Amino acid sequence: MGSAAIVAGLGACVPLTVVTNHDLAARLDTDDEWIRTRTGIRQRQVVAPGEATGDLAVEAARRALASAGTDTADAVVLATSTPDRLCPATAPHVASRLGLGNVPAFDVAAVCAGFVYALATASGLIAMRAADRVVVIGADTFSTILDPDDRTTGAVFGDGAGAVVLRAGTDDEPGALLGLSLGSDGSRSDLMGIPGGGSRQRSTGLPIKEEETYFGMQGQAVFTQAVRRMSASVQETVARCGWRLADVDRFVLHQANARILVAVARKLDVPVERFVTDIERVGNTVAASVPLALVDGAVSGDLDPGHRVVLASFGGGLAWGSVALVWPRLGTVQAPALTDAAESYQSGAR
Ligand code: UT7
Repeated sequence: MGSAAIVAGLGACVPLTVVTNHDLAARLDTDDEWIRTRTGIRQRQVVAPGEATGDLAVEAARRALASAGTDTADAVVLATSTPDRLCPATAPHVASRLGLGNVPAFDVAAVCAGFVYALATASGLIAMRAADRVVVIGADTFSTILDPDDRTTGAVFGDGAGAVVLRAGTDDEPGALLGLSLGSDGSRSDLMGIPGGGSRQRSTGLPIKEEETYFGMQGQAVFTQAVRRMSASVQETVARCGWRLADVDRFVLHQANARILVAVARKLDVPVERFVTDIERVGNTVAASVPLALVDGAVSGDLDPGHRVVLASFGGGLAWGSVALVWPRLGTVQAPALTDAAESYQSGAR
């Protein structure tokens, strides 16, 4: 068995409660047209009271394992910034609920870039032969950390989880993770985040004010950084693979804003039609964003076996990253809705 990491299964899950732009407009000073034209989002899905990130992560992982034709794995890497509890990590509980026994399981905190960071970490476990099969999950429930009166973040974020199964193989196989590029800029950590609740805020000894427990973001500055960092990261990864941008069939980028995808396409001088997008239905689902878009692409047939694909994400930290692969032929990939009526996509039958 080789030491390359191969995508062998894919799954996702979004919670049942749909919040449309009209629902938001009924309680906040906003409207459907503003949200659609500024972000490309029509609705997002959010957890119900009592539902948590780990619940979505377990379901997405189950579906990814089923798509890989297995129910076992040697490790779980969970990218999230909305863990079930601040301490301990959520991944061990997810591994336990999946029935995986005493496998290594840990969280990766890189906010919206988390899934690409988690892929890189899991690839390292496989390269070191510490694991032959790893479940990599991106899951977040930002609806639980937003200021209910903030129309900007309320319009943008949704909840969800997406997962892939990586298995050991050789780098000439379809699905092998090829080039990778990661980066961060902590000097701009002020651009988004939650001020309170961590060790720094607590060290002042002052009680936390309610507004400091919510996630906030300087939208325009983040937008500019997102375009700049994802474009550069994609270029770096493509170069590391020995590809040209024109060779890339599909770009699966973090779904933060439809206008960001258009701006990156322009900057890279590639047709925006090559960008997979599901933001209209799910909004910005943070660490779940890239794997949810992968599921959307697989289910809709937009991603085809043999496609050269680049994944890229960017978010708080700041942190960003991208990774390239040739899209593999997978088992059944189920649509992300948590309903029995979910459509199935049999890629092997295409
Ligand atoms: O996932 C991590 C990475 N995140 C991102 O990449 C997000 C990047 N940023 C964005 O997507 C956009 O900056 C936002 C969607 C967050 C905001 O869009 P924008 O076009 O940059 O708006 P803005 O912040 O410049 O605000 C323009 C106006 C402001 O009003 P004034 O001050 O001009 O009167 C806002 O108060 O739009 C107002 N506004 C809204 N109006 C109606 C902000 N949110 C809303 C809203 N409905 N929901």
